[in-house]
Amino acid sequence: MTPPLSPADTLPTERSCPFSPPSLLSVYREQEPIRRLRYPDGHLGWLVTGYGQARRILADNRFSARSELKRVPVARPGADPFIGQPALPGWFVDMDPPEHTRFRRLLAGQFTVRRTQELRPRVELLVAGHLDTMAEAGPPTDLVTDFALPIPSLVICELLGVPYSDRADFQHNSTVLFSLDSTAEEGVEAMDALTGFLRGLIRRRRTRPESDLLSRLAHDSDLDDEELAGVGVLLLTAGHETVASMLGLGSYLLMSHPQWAAQITAPETADGAVEELLRYLTIFHFGVPRSPLIDVDFDGLLLRAGESITISLPAANRDPDRFTAPDRLDLTRAAGGHLAFGYGVHQCIGQNLARMELRAGYPALFGRFPRLRLAVPAEEVRLGGAGFYGVHRLPVTW
Ligand code: HEM
Repeated sequence: MTPPLSPADTLPTERSCPFSPPSLLSVYREQEPIRRLRYPDGHLGWLVTGYGQARRILADNRFSARSELKRVPVARPGADPFIGQPALPGWFVDMDPPEHTRFRRLLAGQFTVRRTQELRPRVELLVAGHLDTMAEAGPPTDLVTDFALPIPSLVICELLGVPYSDRADFQHNSTVLFSLDSTAEEGVEAMDALTGFLRGLIRRRRTRPESDLLSRLAHDSDLDDEELAGVGVLLLTAGHETVASMLGLGSYLLMSHPQWAAQITAPETADGAVEELLRYLTIFHFGVPRSPLIDVDFDGLLLRAGESITISLPAANRDPDRFTAPDRLDLTRAAGGHLAFGYGVHQCIGQNLARMELRAGYPALFGRFPRLRLAVPAEEVRLGGAGFYGVHRLPVTW
């Protein structure tokens, strides 16, 4: 039975299935694909759950991504839910064009399909090395610590030129930054530590360039040290926790059905299967924030300048008007056009890299350990996360 809708509910976060968004989001989408949403500070904004509506807003430059206007839909201990500050230097995800365009132009060429394919042999070696280590140590193992986290961490460190010896500190701070369990104060400390680390690295690259992305930007762009450090932290954090979440959560899902494990290892279905996993799991589980710069009449609704809008990417990716039987995982479906990487000018700059890592990761894992399975009861697997939904620990055996 459909629960009664209150005119201004808070964002639903309770899941009945670990791999699917809260079912209330489907009820909202069916009845009011754009509806009022109450934010943790009591402010009334909007929640978008329909695929078509989400895509139109993300493609429309009347809707701003500036952090001054952003409000987070879920409370974090001690945090002011209204971010309310101008973008940090280099954090172009929090800027609008033309400021945003300046950064995006400088970086776009570094993340093309060709560029990321050049990295693929190296990534395959990293994956194989980690699987060898797992095999040698024998089961059980924590798939997050031994596989899902180190692969993207190493890849992004290599791309940017972050020495691997600094990885432990970097990983710790990155996790604190995105954890729902950390306080606002801890978040700020982690951010300061990451930025300080990047500043030092940039100073070194300005005098002694290497063949990495930060060295190229330090020499071929007009970005100053603060902007470069910001770009560095943004790429490190965005490029690391996201792919780690997808590798962990996706592997957990794939191991629950032998047919899926077979489909992900078959070369003819692997690429499409990765796309479907991205759609089905949509790890940006609280969606992305936007705000109208001017009053906008949208399908008969007045979205006022400055109001907060949360675009639920998971709900949009389960819209039956766009995907047939959207709540069914079908690794052979054409899942292209999903919004897991967002849409419009802010669409994920690292999506080619992410796809390449996932395409290298899952097939190798299930090719090597076709009988991979949980080593603990499913109730003991802790799921969740602040920025991205994922699995914290995943004890597995084979
Ligand atoms: C499966 C992995 C990933 C997912 C699901 C993901 C998802 C997203 C989404 C939804 C956005 C749009 C945010 C918005 O509209 O406000 C975004 C933007 C962004 N992503 Fe990713 N991402 C992933 C991997 C990566 C990687 C590997 C990198 C870096 C190497 C990266 C860097 C960025 C950056 C810099 C932006 C901001 C782009 C802009 O504002 O122009 N992401 N990502």
